[in-house]
Amino acid sequence: MKALVVVFFYFLMEADETRKYSKCELYEELTKHGLDGYTGIGVGHWICLILFGSGYDTEYYKFSDGHPYYGLFHLSGLKWCSNGRHPSENLCKIDCDNFLDDNISDDVECAKKVAASKGGMMSWKHFGEYCTHPMPEIVFWECKTE
Ligand SMILES: *[C@@H]1O[C@H](CO)[C@@H](O)[C@H](O)[C@H]1NC(C)=O
Repeated sequence: MKALVVVFFYFLMEADETRKYSKCELYEELTKHGLDGYTGIGVGHWICLILFGSGYDTEYYKFSDGHPYYGLFHLSGLKWCSNGRHPSENLCKIDCDNFLDDNISDDVECAKKVAASKGGMMSWKHFGEYCTHPMPEIVFWECKTE
């Protein structure tokens, strides 16, 4: 019984924590959220963006070049969300903290706005640096189950 209680709390803690995705989990989630092919960008390229932006980590936060960056998609708190401490255009009309939990729905919604914005995928500097070379979209084959 005691062991059962411990196990129960273990899972409770797990569920409460933010999470780091594996590549194939991410493939599944991004596809489910309609990112494969969004604005012509294949899911492999989205995964590249996320790898270099946050290392697949939903809890990602970094302050660099005067910008606070949040979450899986490395979204700027001066432009796409607001953290209440910095003036921000807040184009996704959202509190930046929402990008740090393990529910990626709002992250994806905002990332779609970025992709559809004037700068497109190039709004993400690291996308231009690491993800623009032609890449075969092999993630489907890598992650295909059975
Ligand atoms: C994730 O967040 C969205 C709102 O951003 C909400 O509609 C949805 O129910 C949430 N999903 C879960 C599993 O909590």
